[in-house]
Amino acid sequence: MDTNAKLYEDLDRILITRDQIQEAIRKMGKRITEDYAGKEPVLIGILRGAVVFFADLVREIDLPLTMEFMAISSYGSSTKSSGVVRIIKDLDRDISGKDVLVVEDIVDSGLTLSHLKQVLATRKAASVSIVTLLDKPARRKVPLEVEYSCFNIPDAFVVGYGLDYDEKYRNLPDIGVLHPRIYTQED
Ligand code: IMP
Ligand code: MG
Repeated sequence: MDTNAKLYEDLDRILITRDQIQEAIRKMGKRITEDYAGKEPVLIGILRGAVVFFADLVREIDLPLTMEFMAISSYGSSTKSSGVVRIIKDLDRDISGKDVLVVEDIVDSGLTLSHLKQVLATRKAASVSIVTLLDKPARRKVPLEVEYSCFNIPDAFVVGYGLDYDEKYRNLPDIGVLHPRIYTQED
């Protein structure tokens, strides 16, 4: 998609370009390939935001991995965390004894993943690590160890490359800061 495309008109600015994203994912894939050498990790993609990142990341990992998906929600249509975490779609397979990598689009308050890590621990995974495309460390509300992060970003609401506002903009190839005029109508 051209950066002059209609959807880009709702952005204040592009924060991370598609080339920068691909470069970071190549490096991340290499790191994970090295760190998990000899293992068969299960990659759990968190629907829906992580789907675009997940699809690119798995193709940069040279291991006999398997894929799972979960849907968890801590957000409604607003840009503020509700603090409420719900499992909407659970895993289809047993993960006991497996090395799990949870693949997320962004870590913000940390509420979603700290809850999920606890849930996965009770299922006796051999290990559970987090891979996120974006991290907003300044926004953390609960302590959370993030083992793999491609980019630390400032406290701004971003969309694109899987990330949404009100379910839109996920198909933007770059990551941009949403123009505040798009959400200032909210209360
Ligand atoms: P947390 O529980 O606050 O860490 O929330 C993580 C989830 O909030 C992510 O998976 C996103 O769905 C959503 N989120 C947080 N920040 C942003 C953002 O800047 N843009 C889009 N979604 C966001
Ligand atoms: Mg979301």
